[in-house]
Amino acid sequence: MIERPRRNRSSQAVRSLIQETTLRPANLVLPVFVEEGENVRRPIPSMPGVVRYSIDELVSEAKIAAELGIAGLAIFPALADELKDSTGTESLNPDGLLQRCVRALKGEVPELLVITDVALDPYSSDGHDGVVRDGEIVNDETLPLLAKMAVAQAEAGADVVAPSDMMDGRVDAIRTALDDAGFTNTAIASYCIKYASAFYGPFRDALDSAPKSGDKKTYQMDPHNVREALREIELDEAEGADWIMIKPGLPYLDVVRLAREATPLPIAAYHVSGEYAMLRAAAQNGWLDYDKCLLESLVCLRRAGADVIFTYGALDAARLLAKLAD
Ligand code: PBG
Repeated sequence: MIERPRRNRSSQAVRSLIQETTLRPANLVLPVFVEEGENVRRPIPSMPGVVRYSIDELVSEAKIAAELGIAGLAIFPALADELKDSTGTESLNPDGLLQRCVRALKGEVPELLVITDVALDPYSSDGHDGVVRDGEIVNDETLPLLAKMAVAQAEAGADVVAPSDMMDGRVDAIRTALDDAGFTNTAIASYCIKYASAFYGPFRDALDSAPKSGDKKTYQMDPHNVREALREIELDEAEGADWIMIKPGLPYLDVVRLAREATPLPIAAYHVSGEYAMLRAAAQNGWLDYDKCLLESLVCLRRAGADVIFTYGALDAARLLAKLAD
């Protein structure tokens, strides 16, 4: 044999030398859940290791994340039912939970990027990302609400707003509203290619935000399809998106790769709640090594083409990477 691929795997030194993909804490964003109160760390049963923080506790965790070199936090507020209505009015409250949380984080840990989610669901009594009228999720009526929500988040200090609602035309509506309000430096991370996925189950438990009726299939993409991802990318590029997000992550690596090849924009992949829960559940049973499977999952997302990875395992991964570097 002349060709022996194993020669390039024969020692740690050669393996390190030819390694193609890197994974650094700076590639990671930690999604976090926040609720009212003080000293709260409320466990989420379907996401072992993940909690809902009160703002004070979140600020201490954010300092740790920053020390570990994590790039940013994506914040998801859990609101009391009394605050929810059909148009998500609370999302505009300058003293609302999310706004106070953003101000606290930017005040105390300014180096950490703060990314806020733009969609009605945490604020909506219907549990949908858009306005519901006669059972239909109405697109164009939702757009001004999303645009105002994004401006309210930028006013609170968000560095990046991340529309996860999948309404048509929302990136344009948000970009225009941000610019008109003077927030030309606030970036838009568009959840451009977001599938109607059952892997979001634990996230909806965490926020108690599941749709009250129906499902999200009239706005989120069909998992059977990939060509329409190209159409979504084209539109979001034209509308001014700064990052293109793909969600979920691991089951959609082909889409991450396709997006990487289709656009020069940075690509983010969201390793979603269900993917995280599967790793934890298998590890709790002694069936998988959580640490190794987490790092491998994240490396695979990077290899497929993701620049940025949103993962509930960001702190764990950053600690593991620091240990490996020692
Ligand atoms: C809400 C939103 C969802 C997620 C992020 N933003 C849920 C949904 O669309 O129902 C899911 C994240 C996860 O599962 O980790 N617009």
